[in-house]
Amino acid sequence: MRDITVLVTASGAPGTAALLRALRTNGERGVRIVGTDMSPQAIGRQFCDRFYVVPPGRDPAFIDAVLDIVRRENIDVVLPQSSFDLLALAEGRERFMATNVLVSPPDAIRTANDKAAAYALLERLGLRAPAWRKVTGGRALAVAAQELGYPERPVCFKPVFSSGSRGFRVLDANVDRARQLLEERPGNLAMRLNDVLGLLPEEGGPDLLVMELATGRERTVDGIARAGQVILGHAKTRESMRAGLAMYFETLNDHWLLEVAQRIVAELGIEYFFNIQLVGDHVIEINPRISTIVYQEDLNLPYLGVKSALGEISHEELAQLGARVRPSRRALRYFDQVEWDESSPADTHEPPRAWTPSSTLE
Ligand SMILES: Nc1ncnc2c1ncn2[C@@H]1O[C@H](COP(=O)(O)OP(=O)(O)O)[C@@H](O)[C@H]1O
Ligand SMILES: [Mg+2]
Repeated sequence: MRDITVLVTASGAPGTAALLRALRTNGERGVRIVGTDMSPQAIGRQFCDRFYVVPPGRDPAFIDAVLDIVRRENIDVVLPQSSFDLLALAEGRERFMATNVLVSPPDAIRTANDKAAAYALLERLGLRAPAWRKVTGGRALAVAAQELGYPERPVCFKPVFSSGSRGFRVLDANVDRARQLLEERPGNLAMRLNDVLGLLPEEGGPDLLVMELATGRERTVDGIARAGQVILGHAKTRESMRAGLAMYFETLNDHWLLEVAQRIVAELGIEYFFNIQLVGDHVIEINPRISTIVYQEDLNLPYLGVKSALGEISHEELAQLGARVRPSRRALRYFDQVEWDESSPADTHEPPRAWTPSSTLE
């Protein structure tokens, strides 16, 4: 089997080390990995065969930078990891010619990345989403919070466009602020409405989504879709949150979750990787990209997605591998670290120039 080169974007994302390991230890071929990231400190710089600093995914220069790398490095497959990279790659997809970009159509990404649009779609499908209001400014936030039951019930809000729990806060009238201050870790998410109103402008500012606070266990369905069909699905819990990231996962054998995923994937026409997130029975987020994977020695989802894109495995063969998902499987994330010496002292003063390779592993 011929060796291939995969470009992994946002190679500072939390799942990168495990993803690179999985792509390489596929048991059948050599995979060379080129990483990109907007930060020169991304872990991809240490772990990829080549690493490039590129503009942020929302910068118009991002797509040209990625295209340039694709041509220079002879990339077979582009695997985006960040929500912010998806739209530019989807819109620029034809420009990649023979290179496979593992991304959904632009409309699917627009809807999924806009939480108000995503929740409206879930309601149309008859799926449970939190009740929501889209507002700007503190005054409208207060009205929406009250409509959704505050102060009798806690509610929550976040920017309409965000990721990684950035900007997410719970509004809870009964929160014990003194206890939070003295006893809890920084980054606690619960605040009182009045505290928030002191921080936001009365009018204007970013669009905010004010939501019913869903309760219950967090779960996700991950998998590979082709042309709006879930070919291989994997359901799991999402636990032990630290700094907005889940650190522990238990595989689930849950037919209902796979059904929910299939309806959403079909409606949006999702292609390749997806991650659908629930709190209790409420769907709270649709991510048309790869997320944390629970790997098994006999089930390597990212590599299978790559093979599917290359036309090396049929939809039927891929679907049959779904039977290998083991509900006994667990994943625990933990902190690790790497050390290195900068090759030239200049590197410590100047950030690597935009999309020039700044480091290679020996
Ligand atoms: N309506 C909601 N009810 C309860 N928890 C929520 C709600 N919306 C978001 N969350 C919590 O906030 C986290 C981040 O929100 P999410 O919608 O996944 O956005 P993102 O991952 O893009 O930051 C979720 O993992 C969940 O813990
Ligand atoms: Mg999320």
